[in-house]
Amino acid sequence: MKKVIIIGASSGIGRALAELYVAKEFLVGITGRRKTLLEEIQSAHPDQVVVSAFDVNELKSEVHLNALVEKLGGVDIVIYSSGVGEFNKDLDFAIEKQMIDTNVMAFTQVADWAYQYFKKQGMGSFASITSMAGMMGSRHAPAYNASKAYQINYLKGLRQKVKRQKLAVSITDLRTGFVDTPMAKAASKFWVATPQKAAAQMSQAIQQKAAVAYITKRWGIVGFFLRLFA
Ligand SMILES: NC(=O)c1ccc[n+]([C@@H]2O[C@H](COP(=O)([O-])OP(=O)(O)OC[C@H]3O[C@@H](n4cnc5c(N)ncnc54)[C@H](OP(=O)(O)O)[C@@H]3O)[C@@H](O)[C@H]2O)c1
Repeated sequence: MKKVIIIGASSGIGRALAELYVAKEFLVGITGRRKTLLEEIQSAHPDQVVVSAFDVNELKSEVHLNALVEKLGGVDIVIYSSGVGEFNKDLDFAIEKQMIDTNVMAFTQVADWAYQYFKKQGMGSFASITSMAGMMGSRHAPAYNASKAYQINYLKGLRQKVKRQKLAVSITDLRTGFVDTPMAKAASKFWVATPQKAAAQMSQAIQQKAAVAYITKRWGIVGFFLRLFA
């Protein structure tokens, strides 16, 4: 049985990914702070879902992930979906810090853990949900866009390491446009996907070991122009 861990599976895209991998008959490890929501998913699929409730900002993800892997009996895919996205026009540092903590610090810790684990194992896939926002600056949400640019570049770095070391490990940047979750707060949104559609395209990209996947695919058109002009 294949095994996947989804960091940040209590709601939104992470939850849709958890449900999709259950349907694909994976053993699924789910994490997040809201234990009740995680247990709700687990109680619907008691034989296929293992819960590990923790806050990635406590920077003890390694401890929790090692314990979760032991319960699952290994892991083939790790997906980082945890994220904070807030408008912060007045640059309230407490808000900026929440985004930097979760989207940069905690992301890095999980990415490094997954890289080391898969290197030792000789195979595996790590994917992170970045954002189209990471391809441009924003006066409304400077830290959010900058944190997603960090993720995009960090993943590039990990792919270079994989290539140099000739590892059978894939590192996928799930570069995502609008998805209908509490995170999508912009007043004017377009091409808004359901979490289920986004999750289906994400799992396909991971299976294909894509380096970068635009979610949904049409966001690739915007990505093309942002690469040229932003
Ligand atoms: N929705 C969009 O339009 C969109 C677009 C581009 C990219 N994204 C990215 O997609 C990812 C998922 O977001 P979503 O849209 O599905 O929003 P969401 O429903 O708000 O999900 C965010 C997830 O992150 C987890 N999380 C947040 N802080 C955490 C912490 N300190 N420790 C552990 N888990 C934490 C939450 O779990 P708990 O609260 O239970 O901890 C939740 O499961 C994010 O990285 C976001 O930046 C979303």
